Amino acid sequence: MLLLALETSCDETSAAVVRHGREVLSNVVASQVDLHARYGGVVPELASRKHLEGIGPAIEEALDGAGVAASELEGICVTRGPGLIGALLVGLSTAKAMAFALGIPWVGLHHMEGHILAALLERELPFPFLALAVSGAHSHIYRVDGIGRYRTLGRTWDDAAGEAYDKVSKLLGLGYPGGAVIDRLAAEGESDGLVFPRPLLHQDNLDFSFSGIKTAVLNHVRRLSAPPGEDEMRRIAAAFQEAVVEVLTRKALRALDESGLRHLVVAGGVACNSGLRERFRQLAAGSGYEVHFPSPKLCADNAAMLAVAGDFYLRQGFKDGLDANALAHWQLDAAAFHG
Ligand code: KG4
Ligand code: ZN
Repeated sequence: MLLLALETSCDETSAAVVRHGREVLSNVVASQVDLHARYGGVVPELASRKHLEGIGPAIEEALDGAGVAASELEGICVTRGPGLIGALLVGLSTAKAMAFALGIPWVGLHHMEGHILAALLERELPFPFLALAVSGAHSHIYRVDGIGRYRTLGRTWDDAAGEAYDKVSKLLGLGYPGGAVIDRLAAEGESDGLVFPRPLLHQDNLDFSFSGIKTAVLNHVRRLSAPPGEDEMRRIAAAFQEAVVEVLTRKALRALDESGLRHLVVAGGVACNSGLRERFRQLAAGSGYEVHFPSPKLCADNAAMLAVAGDFYLRQGFKDGLDANALAHWQLDAAAFHG
């Protein structure tokens, strides 16, 4: 099928054209980061308005880039949730309106389903596999038995990993979003004896907790006699990243050990992290496990990632009606497709 995919769950307006759920013909991502940066985080109302302005041009650019006319499209897939409700509604309403006007089916998808299956845009993987899904709102370990068949094995009890990066960045005065900035500082510095806690690391579960690491960073900064200079910032960033990466990698490897599965997909915006990629490379070497990272453009929010599941569902005849609404909160297990 030739699909248009739309993603507007947070602060990127994205449209993609994908053939057969695998061949990405275009993947346009219009970021709103500059708009929200001055407020230190995403302002939901501004995000919705910016999506409204941007969705039409993004779709035109995606169609042009793919060399495809709207009349050639055979289906539309769109993020239905979870996310900012006003932002989601822009993508969802656009998908419904276009599908209705073009007389083609559409389907609403779970955002994390898109992130996890993005790996399949670059390589085929045998089911079942495990997924570590780490973004601004999720830090979950899932067992993936097939497209639409997900089971949560572990999850964060409080902040998501990306949220912790963003909060630490904010408290260090490094702005929003924080992941890439802290990642760069961490790579330039050494933790040099500074150790932040690794919550739940030795507990007998696959869960995470990141809010304590963020508080430990805050307490460390408060104890300093002066605001941290550049070297101290690098040291803090390196120590913070080591703590987060250690917990994520150890728990994911533990999940592989316990499940007996061999393949792990690391997905979502935090999967761009260079420290996380490097640590997985070290730990997986010689272990028999294979850890797959989609390329950074497919880890961050983008529409093409939705087309893997979109193509699968629409080919099975599973589609949504005009009454399907956006869902701000939605568990991936509950979003599972049972066709
Ligand atoms: O998946 P994503 O683009 O949007 C959501 O679904 O949330 O993930 C965004 C999150 C943000 O918290 C951002 O700070 C984080 O991913 N992030 C990173 C890196 N790049 C983005 N975190 C750590 N290291 C990075 N290089
Ligand atoms: Zn995302």
